Amino acid sequence: MACALRDRFGRHITYLRLSVTDRCDLRCIYCMSEDMTFVPRGELLSVEELDRLASAFVDRGVSKIRITGGEPLVRKGVMSLFEGLSRHLRTGALRELTLTTNGTLLARHADALARLGVRRVNVSLDTLDPVRFRAITRRGTLGVVMDGLRAAQEAGLRIKLNAVALKSVTEHEIHDLIAFAHGRGMDLTLIETMPLGEIGADRTDQYLPLTELRRLIGTRWTLEDTAERTGGPARYARVAETGGRIGFITPMSHNFCESCNRVRVSATGTLYTCLGQEDQADLRQALRGSEADDALRAAISAAIEAKPRGHDFSIERGRPTLSRHMSVLGG
Ligand code: GTP
Ligand code: 5AD
Ligand code: SF4
Repeated sequence: MACALRDRFGRHITYLRLSVTDRCDLRCIYCMSEDMTFVPRGELLSVEELDRLASAFVDRGVSKIRITGGEPLVRKGVMSLFEGLSRHLRTGALRELTLTTNGTLLARHADALARLGVRRVNVSLDTLDPVRFRAITRRGTLGVVMDGLRAAQEAGLRIKLNAVALKSVTEHEIHDLIAFAHGRGMDLTLIETMPLGEIGADRTDQYLPLTELRRLIGTRWTLEDTAERTGGPARYARVAETGGRIGFITPMSHNFCESCNRVRVSATGTLYTCLGQEDQADLRQALRGSEADDALRAAISAAIEAKPRGHDFSIERGRPTLSRHMSVLGG
């Protein structure tokens, strides 16, 4: 392995989140506006380029790759990307190859993902109520996601459900979500909504701090904090009554940037060194400029060296902190 990636604050970068498209078949109210402009398909990196780019990171010590979107499974050729990258699992260079998905196309791809070495998937699910599901996603049907979850479990994939905490929604859902997830052997992670991109709504109306949700959970369930980690930002607690885990991702109420181990690459080959900052580097140019990886390696090193200390998201301002939508990087 070439030299490991380390930033100026001494943080080792071992986790790459690679977006393969900014498009999605849903329009979740906290993520997108109804009328989105997406990147023209011609500007996307090809599957071969995505593989070369990701492999350059593996070569530098990245041991976990999460494929994201938008919705990664709507990208044509995404399974070929999984197939290509799975070679790094076989050599042992990669410890984990995984994805975050909205689940709508999971039934179609679960078997192949499992066969290619994916062991667990994170599936976004904010509600178990079909009417609410429609209202939150503006498209899509809850039943299709349920089919996807079932297929994934039958294929042997472990599942973590991601629920974005939403005021006036999650308070009503939380106990059912816990019972549903833990009753099926799934982890559940709760996420504070982050102010990325114009969504045509005031985020202060949506924001529900996890401190509040945790208090509500405590009225019905017994939470025991654990030191277990999954490589992402979640802090976990175990529910004594179910034995299952709840993850808490608290970018707004409790910043976790100090232990950040990750960077993101967009589907057009832009490296973002922090989800909550504009800092970026164009890797596409470096990638296309030469068949050798020297320029690419240098561009990656320079950008990571300058990785910002952390984000400064603020919900109070009402306006998005960044104009970029969450779907550019898939979180
Ligand atoms: P695990 O591998 O299961 O730990 O997953 P993960 O939490 O790394 O990935 P996932 O795609 O499920 O992300 C869950 C949520 O965490 C998303 O809403 C992401 O936007 C958010 N998230 C992940 N990394 C960061 C980060 O570095 N900063 C912030 N602010 N949010 C993050
Ligand atoms: N804030 C927090 N999480 C978000 N997600 C999408 N938009 C936001 C937002 N504004 C979540 C999705 C998915 C994960 C990748 O990011 O629900 O689970
Ligand atoms: Fe699509 Fe995920 Fe954004 Fe929902 S949160 S619109 S599923 S990318």
